Amino acid sequence: MDPHSDDHAENGCNPDAESDADADADAPCAKKAKPSPFPITGAEIRLEFAHHDPAVARINNGSFGSCPSSVSDAQSQWQLLFLRQPDHFYFNLLQPALLRSRLLVKELINADDVDEISLVDNATTAAAIVLQQISRAFFEGSFSKGDAVVMLHYAYGSVKKSIHAYVTRAGGHVIEVPLPFPVTSDEEIVHEFRKALAAGKANGRRVRLAVIDHITSMPSVVIPVKELTRICREEGVDQVFIDAAHAIGNVEVDVKDIAADFYTSNLHKWFFCPPAVAFLYSRKCLASTDLHHPVVSDRYGRGLPVESGWIGTRDYSAQLVIPSVIEFLDRFDSGIAGIRKQNHEKVVEMGKMLAEEWKTCLGSPPEMSSSMIMVGLPASLGILSNEDALNIRSHLRDKFGVEVPIYYNPPKEMEWEGENSGSLVTGYARISHQVYNVEEDYHRLRDAINKLVKDGFTCRMLSS
Ligand SMILES: Cc1ncc(COP(=O)(O)O)c(C=O)c1O
Repeated sequence: MDPHSDDHAENGCNPDAESDADADADAPCAKKAKPSPFPITGAEIRLEFAHHDPAVARINNGSFGSCPSSVSDAQSQWQLLFLRQPDHFYFNLLQPALLRSRLLVKELINADDVDEISLVDNATTAAAIVLQQISRAFFEGSFSKGDAVVMLHYAYGSVKKSIHAYVTRAGGHVIEVPLPFPVTSDEEIVHEFRKALAAGKANGRRVRLAVIDHITSMPSVVIPVKELTRICREEGVDQVFIDAAHAIGNVEVDVKDIAADFYTSNLHKWFFCPPAVAFLYSRKCLASTDLHHPVVSDRYGRGLPVESGWIGTRDYSAQLVIPSVIEFLDRFDSGIAGIRKQNHEKVVEMGKMLAEEWKTCLGSPPEMSSSMIMVGLPASLGILSNEDALNIRSHLRDKFGVEVPIYYNPPKEMEWEGENSGSLVTGYARISHQVYNVEEDYHRLRDAINKLVKDGFTCRMLSS
């Protein structure tokens, strides 16, 4: 007999027993967390992240996030609970624990209903879920060939590829919104977005979906998602999907206020979960939308949250530690809001320090940045292609023990021809700040770049 078969439910075990939010006394963090009367100390933070490689100044929380040891210990306990008695875990623990995590996410993002929240592996999976229903609508004839999907030029690479795979191949037309960078105000973004929507609607086409990043990855900029969603509504766009892979734990998230149809954020980037877990919010009024998890199990057709709660035998532990993350956050003064504020203030301070040192500029004003900010690199480094950006990033890692992503910003044609073309800033470092960072991490980057400049280094020296 299939060990996961729902036949077992008839014997009194209900793997979908979603009302039992108390789960099992064995479960890690079965008790509700309370704010600690003794806020976490610097030494305790260092202990929580003692597994980080001490040789590396890690100022790239944005790419893969970070997980404190109290949370990874809780994850190991969940994994052991499964190994100890998998059938008990499957029938009695897994679904109530997933529900508890979803309820916490619902509170965190101000959703109306827990059925609006599905837990999935990552933002890439969430994008596939949203885009596959668009694809089916083209193939099944509810959308017409040539109907448009609008996305930002700076949409994340795998999301762009997904749009190609699921929309262009199904007959949809894709419009990219070109965004200025460096950027100085929300208005510049709103202006370009309105132009792109008008292009999307040209020749009587319908805009079926807008895919909007909350915080673009590279270059990193906070996008006015509430305003853009409002414009989409005014302009009759059918659906709005916010790719907020970097958002939760980094900027305030209120899905009711933003009022998009779909909103996803990784929990492993800025919310201290281990890799990999994300939530996908989908508005309750879309319950009849043809949303499905790309991995089909026997739960197909029972709604996305239920489908996502069982996609075959695998490790679900990253999805189960959200209560342990909340316990960790409660040890900080003002919890996640305090962490966000402090990270933002510190990254801006460090960004300004670096830009001043290198006589460059920030890629966006502080209010358009989160816990990440773009800092211009000295022009003399000669970052003139994406390959140069990757090479200098590896060089900083290998020779200086600094982990920081580098962005190549191609100059506009007229800038190349101008008399100041030799001093054009074409490379930017995306620095992050998370609770484990110290000023010394940024000083290491500052000193590494200063040394490269002093030594007359240019990226040409690294190209093969
Ligand atoms: C804006 C954006 N979308 C999607 C993703 C994909 O996230 P994941 O690799 O966790 O699926 C990222 C990753 O950095 C991102 O920055």
